[in-house]
Amino acid sequence: MRRFLILAHRVPVSGSFTLNDLAGGAGRMDEIARAVSTAFTLSNDLRRDVELSILVGGDPATAARRIDLVGVRLRHLNPDERSTAALLKNALVRSSAVDRPIESSPGLAVGPVDPPAALREFLARPGVVWLTEAGSPLTLHPATPGDFAAVLSDPYEPTDAERAILVASGAVPVSVGPRSLRTSQVLDVVQNELDRREASPR
Ligand SMILES: C[S@@+](CC[C@H](N)C(=O)[O-])C[C@H]1O[C@@H](n2cnc3c(N)ncnc32)[C@H](O)[C@@H]1O
Repeated sequence: MRRFLILAHRVPVSGSFTLNDLAGGAGRMDEIARAVSTAFTLSNDLRRDVELSILVGGDPATAARRIDLVGVRLRHLNPDERSTAALLKNALVRSSAVDRPIESSPGLAVGPVDPPAALREFLARPGVVWLTEAGSPLTLHPATPGDFAAVLSDPYEPTDAERAILVASGAVPVSVGPRSLRTSQVLDVVQNELDRREASPR
């Protein structure tokens, strides 16, 4: 399984944003939606060996949410950013009315979380990678395509508190290249590297 956790900092937790302003009032939901698309979509197919969680903690007044997408069960994920953002918005809106996890559409669950605890839980897996510009090269990292887990951030830097948890967990800082890339681009590069290793085991 390939597992990813995206730290989303400014997406309104209640889902109260318009699909016409994804890069503004939606707190860069445009990039989160692109990242979801990149993580799961192939040409005319879906990656079933991917699980992706989004930690949505963008509104201190509202309890944070974690959205979990599971490739093997995922339905209704189209390649375009707007419909993906609509799926995620729907999850947040429906979740804001209940205080327990729900499945808002097949393969897409959402529920309230304590963000530090959720981040620590993800990092408790062995060998989790922290995707960061300051890391050592992914090409030199002994990641295996069938058992990979990584944390990365949305267009905003991890907070000091998140950074402290990442450091304390011992997550390995890994870089995909010398330039600061968009979240979705990083996922593209990682998926490609894992695909290559899967096709030609070392
Ligand atoms: C747009 S970047 C974050 C903001 C950026 N650091 C800046 O200069 O404003 C989004 C996220 O993608 C990941 N990222 C970006 N470039 C990367 C790289 N070269 N290698 C690994 N991860 C990278 C990091 O997790 C980063 O937090």
